[in-house]
Amino acid sequence: MQPEVARPFFMLPSADSTLSADVDGLFLFVTYLSIFFFTIIVAGMAWFVFQYRDRPGRPKVKQVSHSTVLEVTWSVIPTILVIFIFIWGVKGFMDMAVAPRGAVEVQVTGKKWQWEFDSPDFGKSLNELVVEVDKPVKLILSAEDVLHSFYVPDFRVKMDAVPGRYTTLWFQATKVGEHQVFCTEYCGTGHSAMLAKVVVLSAEDYAKRKAESQSTGEISAASGEKLYSSKNCKACHSIDGARVVGPSFKALWDKDESLADGSTVKVDENYLRESILDPNAKIVATYPPAMPPYKGLLKDHEIGSLIAYIKSLQ
Ligand code: CUA
Repeated sequence: MQPEVARPFFMLPSADSTLSADVDGLFLFVTYLSIFFFTIIVAGMAWFVFQYRDRPGRPKVKQVSHSTVLEVTWSVIPTILVIFIFIWGVKGFMDMAVAPRGAVEVQVTGKKWQWEFDSPDFGKSLNELVVEVDKPVKLILSAEDVLHSFYVPDFRVKMDAVPGRYTTLWFQATKVGEHQVFCTEYCGTGHSAMLAKVVVLSAEDYAKRKAESQSTGEISAASGEKLYSSKNCKACHSIDGARVVGPSFKALWDKDESLADGSTVKVDENYLRESILDPNAKIVATYPPAMPPYKGLLKDHEIGSLIAYIKSLQ
């Protein structure tokens, strides 16, 4: 799926949006400029230390306290350079701040610990944003609980998602493929697992995917297994019995589960369905009430497939 990575510089990620070139240009200019001045300053310093060291038989060098020519030079040149960097930066900032007219608008909600997208073409989805190549997309970000930050390195865009207010970000992907999204604001124990993908499709595949998303799927353990990854159940539920954030799915089916209120419940279809849609209704003993409700995020056949998958893990 991932196309060959075209890196503008060894330490930069692949550059895959219309904003990348300008961001990289300014970043590299500042980097090379710093390397240039670092080199001449350190080399000059080393040379003076060596050349004018204290030696027997040599007169002491007179202290120089002032040189108008030198001081004007080392004030004017950096000032011009900094103004140049400032103008370049403002231009880039304005380009990134204002989305082009006609951009597809997607609502993004950050919550512990996942990204929820609501796009006009696909409805709600978790941790996967599907966009069309060469089309501008505007994200309207917010957060449900604490500060998060939406970062796509390949696109060179990053914006905080703040509870109680909206922030925006836009990009236009230039290459078909998958791009990693990171949360870059520390938001709790699941912060490092708060990952998502931006999937960039060709116009043709995008139209196909759109048609598919409007049809209903069938129920199977195999599609449940895919959902386990794509809906990020795996961030909190293991399938090998290991304790992560929530109970493992291994041998969960048909078990008598002890709840936090001291009662027990049989793990069957109704219990699993309720626990997916409204996880706080019954909290398993010794586990934190950490799962967000999936009501409105999963279709019926997807819930059925997840239950079929959990059943298959006996
Ligand atoms: Cu969300 Cu870190």
